Amino acid sequence: MTAAKLEVRGLSAGYGQTRIIEDIGFSVPAGGRLAVLGRNGMGKTTLFATIAGQTTRFDGSVALDGAEISGLQGSSRALAGLGYVPQNRAIFKSLTVEENLQVGLKGRAESAIEEAYAMFPRLKERRRNMGSQLSGGEQQMLSTARTILGRPSVLLLDEPLEGLAPVICDELMAAFAQLASARTMTILLVEQRIKAALEFAESLLILERGRIAWSGAPGELTAQPEVVERLLGVGH
Ligand SMILES: Nc1ncnc2c1ncn2[C@@H]1O[C@H](COP(=O)(O)OP(=O)(O)O)[C@@H](O)[C@H]1O
Ligand SMILES: [Mg+2]
Repeated sequence: MTAAKLEVRGLSAGYGQTRIIEDIGFSVPAGGRLAVLGRNGMGKTTLFATIAGQTTRFDGSVALDGAEISGLQGSSRALAGLGYVPQNRAIFKSLTVEENLQVGLKGRAESAIEEAYAMFPRLKERRRNMGSQLSGGEQQMLSTARTILGRPSVLLLDEPLEGLAPVICDELMAAFAQLASARTMTILLVEQRIKAALEFAESLLILERGRIAWSGAPGELTAQPEVVERLLGVGH
């Protein structure tokens, strides 16, 4: 699949009867990269889960290259080209690395697994290890690689660097940058590390209490330290 344009309009969603995100609208051109920022609990994961079809949607639409997907189940959205790497790194702990990757093939030839190993050589070294034996960074690589094997046209990465050592963060971000430079996928990244997000993204959104509080280009945010302070707080 090739990269698709993602359009989100008036999206409101939550869990059960509880509304968490309200009236979210933005678009990312095919092959573009957007980072979503915001403090803990502001709705970043809920936004991605909603795009992936895993929450209750109250209003709004999500379209890939103009085709509406918000009426589809999560599994059908994946078939429509949406790749979602959730924050909790959903890998199969009792399967080997290679078996985990086989799950991601979605009908592609077994040889496609070499693409994942080319992107993350560590996974090749670990191919016979069980998911449970992997470090946090390796689990993240596996979770990402498995989703990418399905060749999504839009890829959602929710805090891929969370809890990882700086050297692994650099390795992962380099892999994401390489993936992005090929422009074969549109990539959305939730990231707490503002520096990594600014380096990666062409455009940014900041969420506050479920709404878009700021949006713009990385250079514009750098020029507004008061916005960073107010919406992202100390520590960034
Ligand atoms: N499964 C859930 N059921 C009910 N509320 C949830 C659930 N997951 C998250 N929330 C609530 O939704 C809000 C936004 O959470 P989340 O989207 O995870 O934020 P972020 O990813 O920005 O940290 C929080 O108040 C959180 O407690
Ligand atoms: Mg989150």
